[in-house]
Amino acid sequence: MSGTSLDGVDAVVLDFDKGGLELVGSLHTPYPPALRAALLEVLARGEARLETLGQLDVQLADIYAAACHGVWQTCGVRAEDIAAVGCHGQTLWHAPNGPHPFTWQLGDPHRLAELTGVTVVADFRRRDVAAGGQGAPLVPAFHADVFRSEDEHRLLLNLGGIANITWLPVDGEVLGFDTGPANGLLDAWCQEVRGEPYDTNGQWAASGTVLPALLEKLLAEPWLAQPPPRSTGRELFNLRWLRRVAGDLLANANPADVQATLAEYTAATVADALRFLPAAPKRVLVCGGGSFNGHLLQRLTARLGTVENTADHGLDPMQVEAAAFAWLAWRTLNSLPGNLPAVTGARGERVLGCVIPA
Ligand SMILES: Nc1ncnc2c1ncn2[C@@H]1O[C@H](COP(=O)(O)OP(=O)(O)O)[C@@H](O)[C@H]1O
Ligand SMILES: [Mg+2]
Repeated sequence: MSGTSLDGVDAVVLDFDKGGLELVGSLHTPYPPALRAALLEVLARGEARLETLGQLDVQLADIYAAACHGVWQTCGVRAEDIAAVGCHGQTLWHAPNGPHPFTWQLGDPHRLAELTGVTVVADFRRRDVAAGGQGAPLVPAFHADVFRSEDEHRLLLNLGGIANITWLPVDGEVLGFDTGPANGLLDAWCQEVRGEPYDTNGQWAASGTVLPALLEKLLAEPWLAQPPPRSTGRELFNLRWLRRVAGDLLANANPADVQATLAEYTAATVADALRFLPAAPKRVLVCGGGSFNGHLLQRLTARLGTVENTADHGLDPMQVEAAAFAWLAWRTLNSLPGNLPAVTGARGERVLGCVIPA
């Protein structure tokens, strides 16, 4: 799994042989700085030379293959023991609405099959978009499989580059949708002002003061008023958007206060999004890299009440999304659907992705 934060690749090995789902091990492989910079440049500009795209496709496959071999070594398993690799790819552009809806992930699965000698399942999102869906989020079915409770309504909150929630009621329909930006904007502002990829533990944000006028302007973003199904990405929530919406306020602001406001914005948009749910959750479980941001968690707690970490419920926060795509690959190989139409808005359940045989 490699998400919109562009921090790198999270790989997990899952064992389905014992009936349930057992996590064998995991490994995080950061993107090499040059690859990260090249991806950031393409994504920020929204344009690239065709040759550049082709080369990124290959470079991503190479790092995914390295992540596979690395995690197998970590786990003490061999490629021959692996039934399949589920590979999400790196999202280049996500535009599931409009006259020509599409979502586009890069990372050549053919090359990955060649470099690993293992069957690859990839390109999970496009079938759902073709069926009229958002192609996202795809993790809710997995969240339901692992974290649903018979005793209490639960909410899963994934704080990646974008934040998404999954509603897990005791009974009734599982829901899920994006709430807005999370690490993506926090990282971008931190990188821009301090030259650091992220604000460790949210310390910088914690040193600032929320700017109410700025927060209000950001909360007026029309996307936030849209009811689900909905999804978003860096195409909307980026520094260009921040400058367009609030450039006048940014000019004279203390950068730490802006960071504090962006953290508050994440917490506020998550809390606001709960109005689309049929009831209040009894328990909120947080995963994704944002679960390491103590300041952000504190702001979320102020608005949602206590939040817990998925690690307390059996799965490390950085392994949840990666495990979801291993699970989705397993579903595909067993001809089982992976999307939830109530979540993505697709016309029906679909078996997701392409299978590249070993
Ligand atoms: N110690 C930390 N303090 C603050 N933020 C962190 C920390 N560790 C990770 N993060 C954030 O988590 C992000 C990665 O989260 P991740 O769940 O992988 O997102 P994505 O799925 O979009 O790649 C990093 O870019 C960073 O913003
Ligand atoms: Mg990541």
